[in-house]
Amino acid sequence: MSYNLLKGKKGIIFGALDEKSIAWKTAERVHEEGGEFVLSNAPIALRMGSIKELAKNTNAEIIPADATKMEDINKLVDQSTEKLGGKLDFVLHSIGMSVNVRKGKHYTDQNHDWTQKGFDVSALSFHKVMQSLYQKEAMNEWGSIVALSYMAAQRVFPDYNDMADNKAYLESVGRSFGYFFGEKFKVRVNTISQSPTPTTAGQGVKGFNEFIDYADKMSPLGNATAGECADYTVSLFSDLTKKVTLQNLFHDGGFSNVGVSNALMEFLKEKKL
Ligand SMILES: NC(=O)c1ccc[n+]([C@@H]2O[C@H](COP(=O)([O-])OP(=O)(O)OC[C@H]3O[C@@H](n4cnc5c(N)ncnc54)[C@H](O)[C@@H]3O)[C@@H](O)[C@H]2O)c1
Repeated sequence: MSYNLLKGKKGIIFGALDEKSIAWKTAERVHEEGGEFVLSNAPIALRMGSIKELAKNTNAEIIPADATKMEDINKLVDQSTEKLGGKLDFVLHSIGMSVNVRKGKHYTDQNHDWTQKGFDVSALSFHKVMQSLYQKEAMNEWGSIVALSYMAAQRVFPDYNDMADNKAYLESVGRSFGYFFGEKFKVRVNTISQSPTPTTAGQGVKGFNEFIDYADKMSPLGNATAGECADYTVSLFSDLTKKVTLQNLFHDGGFSNVGVSNALMEFLKEKKL
């Protein structure tokens, strides 16, 4: 159902790779709500993924940008405001990748060149995007910037590896840059801490299937899906959440506040029999 929550709003959506991507679902929901946007992803992902289909269905332009390169981001911001005919109202940072996770390197035995690469892509890129938007004064007043995070920023999930550290930085940058963005431009910045979700990035984590099952059993409302994350993001882009800023918002069916659930206890009891 559409409520026209984003009618007249313009933005950039980073990170739609295929139809499982959280950014893909968000682009579809933003379009349904009347928002217009540019889709961006790394040049290599554009060659591999099916983003053209999404662009066609949502009347969006695609502008490639490697989110680790300031030059690419600056060009993207300039071209987006030009193509969309004005400043931006929303930006979604939905970007993550760890080379150590991909190549199965344990947290205690990292290749630190890979660690730096993953940090650049998953964490520092959020600062770079915001720095470009800030310096170019590219956001409208009461605009909204959102990045996606995970609870490994606060608690230990051993196989999340160096992505845990990247998410901790990402959330911190959301608060720090959010302060300056609020003060100078009345723009809000938040991170959404999302349930484990079966996407390309999610499924790269070792033992993902068991892990997603565990989170589901521990959450009174069950895991939040990518589509539900898209709905939540739409609410944060809308005018209904104008004073929500500097927050890390858990979108996880209640997981983050549960010590143990009846569903998990039942499962453990059955296993012992
Ligand atoms: N899937 C989960 O379980 C889960 C849970 C919580 C948070 N998140 C976060 O959600 C976000 C989106 O991930 P997803 O699960 O939709 O997976 P995804 O694999 O569909 O999306 C990750 C995106 O990052 C892009 N990317 C990688 N390197 C890039 C670069 N240099 N420049 C620009 N883009 C680049 C990829 O091309 C891809 O589109 C990530 O930040 C991820 O950490 C995912």
